[in-house]
Amino acid sequence: MSLVRESVVVTLDAAGRPHPAPLGVIERPPHLVLAPFRPSRTLDHLEARPFATVNYVDDVRIFAGCVTGRRRDWSVVPAERIPGFRLEAALAHSEVEVVAVEPDPLRPRFLAREVHFASHRPFLGLNRARHAVLEGAILISRLHLLPRGEVEAAFRRLRVLVEKTAGPAEREAWAWLEEALARAPADRAGAP
Ligand SMILES: Cc1cc2nc3c(=O)[nH]c(=O)nc-3n(C[C@H](O)[C@H](O)[C@H](O)COP(=O)(O)O)c2cc1C
Repeated sequence: MSLVRESVVVTLDAAGRPHPAPLGVIERPPHLVLAPFRPSRTLDHLEARPFATVNYVDDVRIFAGCVTGRRRDWSVVPAERIPGFRLEAALAHSEVEVVAVEPDPLRPRFLAREVHFASHRPFLGLNRARHAVLEGAILISRLHLLPRGEVEAAFRRLRVLVEKTAGPAEREAWAWLEEALARAPADRAGAP
């Protein structure tokens, strides 16, 4: 197994606007591998233009905002070496160019070469509430695939970590996830 960097990938839509989406980017030296499920906008964008920025963030509201649809208008600045944008909030980011695709009907693999890496802010340590929001965001993005009871049980465990260790941003992000879960239909939910 390879290390997965839970990142926010920013692609460009057909109009050239930035589109952020949380993605697990797989380290497979010398490549970074992007594996968006079909259908997704990120996948369409990568097929149309072979560039993206991979953003390493500690503001977990970005993960929660994107998967709940609550907020996607995160500030961006132009990328340096590729056509595109990176998140203003990124602690660091990679600029990548897709150099090969492993086709798959469900989840093709985009093999990307890192053309630029830059660091912007210090990393101030791990945090359990941020981890909880990350896990909660993944569960919300898979609500349509998972049994509702399983998601609710996981939320009960993760909620404790938020109560113990969150700051204001983590609390806000967690509240968005709780709202998305509460809004979802009781049996199996469609993504919000
Ligand atoms: C931490 C995290 C990692 C994710 N990793 C992936 C991934 O590797 N592939 C994927 O298709 N979706 C992944 N998702 C779900 C996508 O972010 C979500 O489906 C998103 O809406 C992408 O769709 P879009 O490109 O249409 O916006 C992840 C979500 C989270 C919170």
